[in-house]
Amino acid sequence: MNGIYHLDGVKKVILVASAKGGVGKSTTAINLATAFNQLHHNVGILDADIYGPSMPKMLGITKKPSISEDKRFIPIDKYNMKCMSIGFLIDQQTPVIWRGPMIIKALKQMLNGVVWNGVDTLIIDLPPGTGDVQLTLCQKLKISGVVIVSTPQELALIDAIKGINMFKKLNVPILGIIENMSYLKTKSGEVIDIFGKGAVEKSAKENSISFLGEIPIDKSISVNSDKGVPYLIENNETNTGKKIIEIAKIIEKKIK
Ligand SMILES: Nc1ncnc2c1ncn2[C@@H]1O[C@H](COP(=O)(O)OP(=O)(O)OP(=O)(O)O)[C@@H](O)[C@H]1O
Ligand SMILES: [Mg+2]
Repeated sequence: MNGIYHLDGVKKVILVASAKGGVGKSTTAINLATAFNQLHHNVGILDADIYGPSMPKMLGITKKPSISEDKRFIPIDKYNMKCMSIGFLIDQQTPVIWRGPMIIKALKQMLNGVVWNGVDTLIIDLPPGTGDVQLTLCQKLKISGVVIVSTPQELALIDAIKGINMFKKLNVPILGIIENMSYLKTKSGEVIDIFGKGAVEKSAKENSISFLGEIPIDKSISVNSDKGVPYLIENNETNTGKKIIEIAKIIEKKIK
């Protein structure tokens, strides 16, 4: 049991959010999930982006989940994680053209109507915005905390802070903020702060939340996403890989 929605056996629910689109929420959610798995958690990933599911592509999943005897979806096992996305049920190129109530019905189905047994840590990748999905999850689930992802630009930060304020209002613990696409390191070792430096950390201080760390712009991160293999599966010994694992360890401590 976990809040009003019933999630068999799930002990911790972590949301990955930012009100801004395209800042790397899904990529970060998958890599954090992989890091938790490497830290010996039994991990589940739920793609709560009903309009724009990313998990089928990012996890290379093309099959549909099977159905249990009690008529619930059995999440797809991939990379030792249990994964569920609306995208497993519909064709990749078919748009979901639903109004709010249908979205919430689908969301509920992916929580209550999925066999989550065996998962102790469920990572939920949120859509952008501060709407129905965020509100429903915060009201219906017992959430251990939310991880905010932002890129360094002011435009991204404005939305990230909107997200932070929404979660504060809903009394969801904020685990901290990650700066994604922080900088670019060239082959010669030069660090280029493409989008400026230090803005996310400064904003974290101003909003009294933890700064969890930086993830650089790394071509391999997007190449891995596109080929359906989480970056961390193939790169946990790189500097970027180690940074992601460090962030996961901080989050792990905070939700204990
Ligand atoms: N640190 C990074 N380095 C390089 N590419 C990255 C990095 N983080 C994310 N990307 C790439 O940026 C793009 C957007 O990432 P992603 O889909 O995770 O963002 P999102 O915030 O989930 O977007 P949406 O709001 O649409 O759900 C993807 O192509 C991804 O591979
Ligand atoms: Mg996404």
